[in-house]
Amino acid sequence: TGRTGIVVALDGPSGSGKSSTSRGVATRLGFRYLDTGAMFRAITLGMLKAGVDVHDADAVAAHAGVTQIVSGTDPSNPTIHVDGEDASVAIRGEDVVAAVSPVAAVPAVRTRLLELQREIIGAGDIVVEGRDIGSVVAPDADVKLYLTADPAARAARRALEEGGSDVAATEASLLARDRIDSTRTTAPLTMADGAVHIDTTFFTLDEVIDQVLELVEAARAGR
Ligand code: DC
Repeated sequence: TGRTGIVVALDGPSGSGKSSTSRGVATRLGFRYLDTGAMFRAITLGMLKAGVDVHDADAVAAHAGVTQIVSGTDPSNPTIHVDGEDASVAIRGEDVVAAVSPVAAVPAVRTRLLELQREIIGAGDIVVEGRDIGSVVAPDADVKLYLTADPAARAARRALEEGGSDVAATEASLLARDRIDSTRTTAPLTMADGAVHIDTTFFTLDEVIDQVLELVEAARAGR
């Protein structure tokens, strides 16, 4: 494709350690960082603000091009702007969490964001996290990772991030999202061809980051 930058693709379900790992790897390498989940959350926030029924796929598709989304790519300060406003906090709200999976299942939404994602990725070295990065967004990535962890460990991490929400409720909510994300027709969560699987349940964050850095060094050496 004539791409010159190095692309590291990290996919996996919520709470698998993707975000912390991606940001850590990008920081260590001096690469940019793209959180594609934040983009799906941002478009969902735009729909909720406009009063779109997120369970009406036609209505969602009709609104797919409306919201303006700008992703910051600094791993130490990832930001996202929705229609000119900083939405970094708002995209983590419960209303967005509850609505994002049905919105992300709509093909017109994925096409819209794919375009934005490819544009950002094409600009140079980057670590990209999501669900379909190694399979759809950047199938020619230099390194592809698929991170998983036991559901209980994932829920415990997420609940901690969310400032002590109920672990059992968090687990139920993330398993429900996984089910929708893995069974949708367009670009479901899946382990891409050529991806390296890391189960992070019994590793520390630093150990996972080191494993990824080794893979990136190996890919660079073989380039
Ligand atoms: O990683 P996250 O929890 O912020 O992602 C939010 C939702 O966005 C997730 O439930 C599925 C969707 N998503 C997606 O469909 N494809 C991506 N590449 C990233 C996220």
